[in-house]
Amino acid sequence: MRAPLDLVIMAAGKGTRMKSRTPKVLQRLAGRPLLGHVLATAGQLKARSAVVVTGHGADQVESAIAGSAQASGLKLGFVRQEPQLGTGHAVQQAVPVLPADGMVIILSGDVPLTQAATLQALVDAAGGDKLALLTVNMTDPTGYGRIVRSADGGVQRIVEQKDASEAQRTICEIYSGIMAVPARHLGPWLSRLTNDNAQGEYYLTDIVAMAVADGIAVTAHCITDELQVAGVNSPLQLAELERAHQTAQARTLMEQGVRLADPARFDLRDDARSGQAARLSCGQDVEIDVGCIFSGQVEIGEGAHIGAYCCISNASIGAGAVIHPYTHIDGEGAGVDVGQGSLIGPFARLRPGAQLGREVHIGNFVEVKNSRLADGAKANHLAYLGDATVGERVNYGAGSITANYDGANKHRTVIEADVHIGSNSVLVAPVTIGTGGTVGAGSTVTKNTEPGVLTVVRGKQISTANWKRPVKQPKV
Ligand code: UD1
Ligand code: CA
Repeated sequence: MRAPLDLVIMAAGKGTRMKSRTPKVLQRLAGRPLLGHVLATAGQLKARSAVVVTGHGADQVESAIAGSAQASGLKLGFVRQEPQLGTGHAVQQAVPVLPADGMVIILSGDVPLTQAATLQALVDAAGGDKLALLTVNMTDPTGYGRIVRSADGGVQRIVEQKDASEAQRTICEIYSGIMAVPARHLGPWLSRLTNDNAQGEYYLTDIVAMAVADGIAVTAHCITDELQVAGVNSPLQLAELERAHQTAQARTLMEQGVRLADPARFDLRDDARSGQAARLSCGQDVEIDVGCIFSGQVEIGEGAHIGAYCCISNASIGAGAVIHPYTHIDGEGAGVDVGQGSLIGPFARLRPGAQLGREVHIGNFVEVKNSRLADGAKANHLAYLGDATVGERVNYGAGSITANYDGANKHRTVIEADVHIGSNSVLVAPVTIGTGGTVGAGSTVTKNTEPGVLTVVRGKQISTANWKRPVKQPKV
């Protein structure tokens, strides 16, 4: 029987180099807080408990993370570290809540992309009684703790960048910030830490030399994927990691057959407002041009094309639909549905509750909110449809508006099948335009209309013959 797993996630540091008011572990990668990534991975391990060490911005960190921990199914607790005296001091705060019979995995809240399988392999390497370090050979190890080995190859200690000699700085094997350690050793080792080093901090990494001195086996589980151990300390590192992560997501999609014009100009993020996890599922022969940003849950049907620079979140795009460039589709909450073969944009805006049937056309500078458009309906230019029900084959003219808001309440506009709404009309809700009716351009319609009638609500045209324009008087 293997010892049960308990997790400690360090998240108390200030993240000085981010130069931000937001605690570092709440900075977002692919729309999700860094710490949220760590918790999602942790949730995949069969851990008995998890404790997050908070300090800098603790209230903010704890409230931001409580929800996502619930989603991951982890039994989560918090301990506070005040003041923050280093990573060893951070873990020391968790010791009183850690059962003595477990294997503890120590994770950093600022190392977001570690995979669960890697952590499982680390636990296996620890084998219940060893101290196991997750390490990686880095082409540029600057800034990281280096793994110092003896002549026979055994791990001796970790030396931090700032304490390392010239010779030690040439070591490329670095400590990832992640280790597995038997809980029963952790307390005694941590209580012996000193802060006699270049940064005046209690280094967690000093327990490695203690284990060696105590005759406890230390092993390094060395992986090759730098991305999995990359930490975020600065805006530049955050951006670099974001790009690496996005490129990896792009590759996965392309392996499934999705044709991205450029995998380096693709983004798929969690919906930061709702916390909805990122998921993009595509049918066969989907093409996505450069610069598109997808967030939350997006589904794209077979053969659909997404033009350049579209932002699409929480939406379903039907088969064969074409979304022209610069279109903004945001289905937060009620969702957006674009039916098969529809043509949307360029420069269109679909808001929550836009439900478009088949072959619907929405053109430039048209906004649709909480409205259902039946098959074949068209609104091609400069228009607003809010809280409307639009029938089949309706043609909604340029510049027309549903006046859905009376300053206090929202009302519905119903436009029945085969209606033609002339340009620059205002339909003042609640109002129904009967089947097959026509509304003349420039009308402000406030009353329901019968099926098939022509409705014109505007001043009669008066043309005056032989009318003379005033001419400018000479100055006196
Ligand atoms: C640490 C390791 C280093 C390793 C690197 C990998 C130590 C001493 N050094 O260095 O060997 O190569 O991670 O990324 O452990 N934190 C606290 N309380 C504190 C200080 C830090 O909770 O008092 C948290 C931070 O919020 C962060 C994590 O611990 O999530 C790591 O701290 P950081 O200061 O970034 O350590 P590094 O200098 O990167
Ligand atoms: Ca770090």
